[in-house]
Amino acid sequence: MPNGGKSDTLEWMDDRQTQRRIRQALLTDRLLGVDAVPLGSRPVSAPPPEPRIETNPPASAPASCDSQAPFAKPPTETSSMTVDEKRLALEELDRNEVRGCTKCDLCKGRTNTVFGQGHPDADLMFIGEGPGADEDVQGLPFVGRAGQLLNKQIDAMGLKREQVYIGNIVKCRPPGNRAPSAGEAAICTPYLLSQIEIIQPKVIVALGGVASKFLLNDPKLAITRQRGQWKLFHGIDLMLTFHPAYLLRQYTKDNRAKVWDDLQKVMDRLGITKR
Ligand code: URA
Ligand code: SF4
Repeated sequence: MPNGGKSDTLEWMDDRQTQRRIRQALLTDRLLGVDAVPLGSRPVSAPPPEPRIETNPPASAPASCDSQAPFAKPPTETSSMTVDEKRLALEELDRNEVRGCTKCDLCKGRTNTVFGQGHPDADLMFIGEGPGADEDVQGLPFVGRAGQLLNKQIDAMGLKREQVYIGNIVKCRPPGNRAPSAGEAAICTPYLLSQIEIIQPKVIVALGGVASKFLLNDPKLAITRQRGQWKLFHGIDLMLTFHPAYLLRQYTKDNRAKVWDDLQKVMDRLGITKR
C-alpha cells in the first residue's frame, strides 16, 4: 500500500483504536482522497459484467446493527427473473413510464430524466436524492463531482461501478439543486420501488439525509446521528451514510473514516473480502 502521508494519517488516530481501524483509515485516506486522480468518465454502455457479486458466506451482523435486519431475501416472483428479463423490465419501465413522465412539476425544468444505471441483477444498490446539473444533461446518475467520489468509494469496496446499481429518489432535477419536496418524492418513489422490485438487491445504501428520510419515511431523521446504522427497507438491508457531495464539502478525515466504516459494514454484509 502506498503510504504517502502515513504519519499524517496516523496523527489523528486515537491510541486506543485498533489495528483494523488504522488499516481502514489508511485505506480511506488513500481510496477516498479527492487529491487522488479522478476516475475517467463513466463507461456509457459497458458490457454486462459478471453477474452478482461473488461472495463468501455473509458475516453475521455486527453488534451495532439492527438485529432485525435479515441477510437472506424471501423468494418473490421477481427473484426468479433472469438477468435479461430484469434488464428488459428496467428498460421498459424507463422507456414506457419514466422518460415521458409529467406526474410532478419537476418535469418542467428537466433536460433529461435520470432513470438509474447499473447491473440489473446487482446485489448492491446506491440511492441518492435526485439528479444535479451534470446528471440532468447526461441523463445518468452520479456523473458529476459527487459521482466521481462515489466511483472511488465503489472501487475501494473492491467493486466496479458496473456491478452495482445507482438510482435516485426523484428522476428529474430539482431546480437550483434544491432537495426534492416530500410531495415530489412521494409521486416519484413508485418508480424506484419498481426498480428495487426488479433488481432485488441484497443491500441498499442510502446516500445522505434526504434519501434516508424519504426511504424511511422519517422527516426527523438526522443523518449525522443515524449514519452507520442498519435499517430495513421493504425487507432489504439498508445502510445509511453521508452523501458524497456532503463529504466533499466537509472533507475531514473523521467524515471519510465514518463513510468507510459504513461501506465496510456493507462489504461484511455482502461477504466481500477484497482488499
Ligand atoms: N446527487 C444525487 O443525489 N444524485 C445524483 O444522481 C447526483 C448527485
Ligand atoms: Fe415524473 Fe419523477 Fe420526473 Fe416527477 S420527478 S416528473 S414523478 S419522473
